[in-house]
Amino acid sequence: MALRSTKQAATKIIDTTGNLVLSPPYGGFGFYHNHGPRTERKVALTFDDGPNKPSTEMLLDTLGELGVPATFFCLGIQAQFHPDLITRIDTEGHVIGNHSMRHARKDTLMLRGGQHIDECADVLAQLLGRRPRLYRPPWGWLTPWEGSRLIQRGYAIIGWDVYTLDWKLPEVDGRVLADGMYRDTKPGSIILLHDSNGIRPESQKVQMTHAVRHLVPRLQAEGYTFVTVPELLNMPAYIPLL
Ligand code: NI
Repeated sequence: MALRSTKQAATKIIDTTGNLVLSPPYGGFGFYHNHGPRTERKVALTFDDGPNKPSTEMLLDTLGELGVPATFFCLGIQAQFHPDLITRIDTEGHVIGNHSMRHARKDTLMLRGGQHIDECADVLAQLLGRRPRLYRPPWGWLTPWEGSRLIQRGYAIIGWDVYTLDWKLPEVDGRVLADGMYRDTKPGSIILLHDSNGIRPESQKVQMTHAVRHLVPRLQAEGYTFVTVPELLNMPAYIPLL
């Protein structure tokens, strides 16, 4: 038991340090786009770790009803499980970005490598007919060498400046999540949410979808427009396949 608690304490220190040094808004070593221009009331919703069922389906229904586009940072492994959802996200006018093959923190911390980036790119390119240009590192952990790997491959590296606890289980109430995001949103904000939960795939993300329903009309009432990340940052979303 003592060994276990020591191990847990060590993991906590590593996580806390990693989040402080490597994650937005502090980390990134200059590689990250954490928000768009602060001069216009445009914001981008982003959803990580999917696609999954039924969470992504429920979210897509909601976004369709609200009439707002979003950006999905998909895992290669989830895209392999649910190729129909990759097609649906794309045809419904949302943008797809790369979130690595398996969400393995170790891959992104290695000095050499990059397979986790390329494997996911290949899966998505096969389904989309073009390669996503946006990349968001798992956990937001970005080392200088991972940043260089991504730039060499032509990626734009996307962080966030609005963050909430939608990944917690049991799920935090949607109104509470929406209140926090509403408070933190500024012109140009990139809002981070999750349409899947890798640890507990049975999570339906019901409260996260409720939060989106609450948040979108409140921000629209204040003159905010919802756009995709490439629109917010005025950059191409995809690279054509050769
Ligand atoms: Ni993630």
